[in-house]
Amino acid sequence: MTAVVRIRDLEVAYGSVRILEGISLEIRKGEILALVGETGSGKTTLAMALARMLPPGAAVRGYVEVDGWAIYDLPVPVLRSLRGRLIGLVPQDAMAALNPVLPVGAQVAEVFQVHLGLSASEAWARAVEALARVRIPRPEQAARLYPHQLSGGMRQRAVLAMALALNPPVLIADEPTTALDRLTQGEILALVRRLQAESEIAVLWITHDIGVVAALAHRVAVLYAGRLAEVGPCAEILSAPFHPYTEALVRTYYDLINGPRGEPLYAIQGYPPSARDRPSGCPFHPRCPYRQEICQDRFPEILQRGERIVACYFPRGNAR
Ligand SMILES: Nc1ncnc2c1ncn2[C@@H]1O[C@H](COP(=O)(O)OP(=O)(O)OP(=O)(O)O)[C@@H](O)[C@H]1O
Ligand SMILES: [Mg+2]
Repeated sequence: MTAVVRIRDLEVAYGSVRILEGISLEIRKGEILALVGETGSGKTTLAMALARMLPPGAAVRGYVEVDGWAIYDLPVPVLRSLRGRLIGLVPQDAMAALNPVLPVGAQVAEVFQVHLGLSASEAWARAVEALARVRIPRPEQAARLYPHQLSGGMRQRAVLAMALALNPPVLIADEPTTALDRLTQGEILALVRRLQAESEIAVLWITHDIGVVAALAHRVAVLYAGRLAEVGPCAEILSAPFHPYTEALVRTYYDLINGPRGEPLYAIQGYPPSARDRPSGCPFHPRCPYRQEICQDRFPEILQRGERIVACYFPRGNAR
């Protein structure tokens, strides 16, 4: 399958603090890749690096390609005009992504005016279509509403409509459903799967919720302390994780939904390290039940097993 996004040896640092290191990853046409990891692991940094939207203090090294464009080689004006067409972005907080003093239809219409040079009335008609595409009921009326007049789920749909307006080949969604109730969250996930299957868009879905990964993703990339621990097909990773960290994440999740009541739930020992204070070697070693001396010396070489990769000296299952 063709890769729409190619990331090679990406590194992001703020001063002497390395946030991401050694990230190589592809997102393929027509797939939903879930990026999962604990808070502070660098998920948002990775998403923003991909769109070249990190703040000026960030030092970025490595190669990022989106739909054939080497993002960090583009002159800034070209990047500005291209980014909206290449990458649709749904941030975590839909309210913050919307302008509170403009009706949502006008905000979607603006995308068509700015990027396609459409007239106000043409742009409005396209905006109503875009709202209909994300299954907002009565889109003509809804387009006239202000963000605060919409429910959380409808606001997420409006932001999704804006992100998809120019039919970008890539959609990045940064934990967009965490603030929603489970039912609304499920509706948004079902919608994204449907839209994604219709349009073959490549999706990077950021989450810390394995339940969301299981419901949505084709492939999973597990990030731990700024490093990729494991990447591979979703079903394989959930049923037979290679990395001890993934194993712990998956076990915590299945315990929560299947575990007998009254029994203590499985929980990963310790806390994720802060970016300023990451352990040597494999950053997971202080919390890892299988650690041996070598784990604190050097970051492990990355093992490739068919469609899967893992960075661990002592992987689980049949990785060895
Ligand atoms: N502008 C910045 N300057 C310095 N450090 C930053 C900056 N932005 C992020 N960081 C640091 O980078 C690390 C990763 O942050 P990031 O927001 O990418 O994590 P995340 O995985 O998205 O977490 P969360 O699940 O909480 O959203 C954190 O330690 C954070 O403090
Ligand atoms: Mg984040």
